[in-house]
Amino acid sequence: MPISNPAHVVEAFELKDCWTPETDLSRKSTLGVGVVTDLYFEPDDLADLHRIRSLSNQRGCPLTVVGGGSNVVFTEEASEHVLVELSGETFQEVDIGTDEERYHIRAGAGKQLPALVRNAVDAGWHTFGRLTGIPGTVGGAIHGNSGTRMGEVGNFVERVHVLHPDRPGTVCRSEPEFGYRSSSLQDDIVIRVEFSGRNRPEDRENPPHEEIQSRRMQTQPISERSAGCMFKNPADDSAGRLIDEVGLKGYKVGEARVSTEHANFLVNEGEAEPEDVLQLMQTIRERVGSEYGIDLEPEVRIV
Ligand code: EPU
Repeated sequence: MPISNPAHVVEAFELKDCWTPETDLSRKSTLGVGVVTDLYFEPDDLADLHRIRSLSNQRGCPLTVVGGGSNVVFTEEASEHVLVELSGETFQEVDIGTDEERYHIRAGAGKQLPALVRNAVDAGWHTFGRLTGIPGTVGGAIHGNSGTRMGEVGNFVERVHVLHPDRPGTVCRSEPEFGYRSSSLQDDIVIRVEFSGRNRPEDRENPPHEEIQSRRMQTQPISERSAGCMFKNPADDSAGRLIDEVGLKGYKVGEARVSTEHANFLVNEGEAEPEDVLQLMQTIRERVGSEYGIDLEPEVRIV
């Protein structure tokens, strides 16, 4: 159940300055689908974030960090979550340095990853350019170990600083584990990430960001509203290829459609509802399941 009298609760937790009532979540997701919620917060600092977590714990509403809204489908249930956007300055810091051909980046979790990748490539770290084309924030990308066929965010991580379990400070996770589109940080709120590494010689010769960008333009519906790839790739296969093979390209439910450019993208033609997206995903899973015996696992977060 959504919290009744949210203004009163927000006041009690001293969170009025970072609260936006009646937030339309369709404007907070790149897919453009969502409901209106009264539990949307943009903390300025760790003290705000700590109080937001207390509210979430005491009221029994799960806390979900919206990592740029590029990999999420907001359903009716989203209004029962405490949603947090790390847009405050504390969460946007970036520092890039080099020593002995090794690059180091410190970046706030709320920083947009595409901008960070551009900054790193401009500073000379071409291998970091393997992360070109991954949308969303640094924190979101770390959480789900986002990647391209050329590399995953986790490959570059040295340390991750997460919100301390009890205090408005941070604690360091020096050896987080990363798997295919997953990490060991599921119960943590990422605050800051330290990346480091060197250039591979082949990336100095042929900067990967250029190739990735031109391939994306050719194969993905980048000008349409979508949440990126909807399903994880099954081992040694491609979800896009499977959905294409079962003939679902262009298939529609309401105003949600399977992209005709890349079948693992669902696009919003205008006023798609959360239910349309969920039903389209269900149809895809059933068809691929019955024809290939493969259960596609969502890559997007369903909130
Ligand atoms: N394919 C089809 N039909 C389609 C789409 C793809 O036959 O409609 C075939 C392609 O021809 C190719 C194979 O499937 O032979 C793989 O396709 P692609 O190269 O586009 O890569 P992908 O595995 O579908 C992955 C990431 C993308 C990332 C691209 C490029 C996942 C789930 N997807 O896509 O990431 O942009 O590689 O590096 O890992 C995302 O995570 O949101 C995302 C879009």
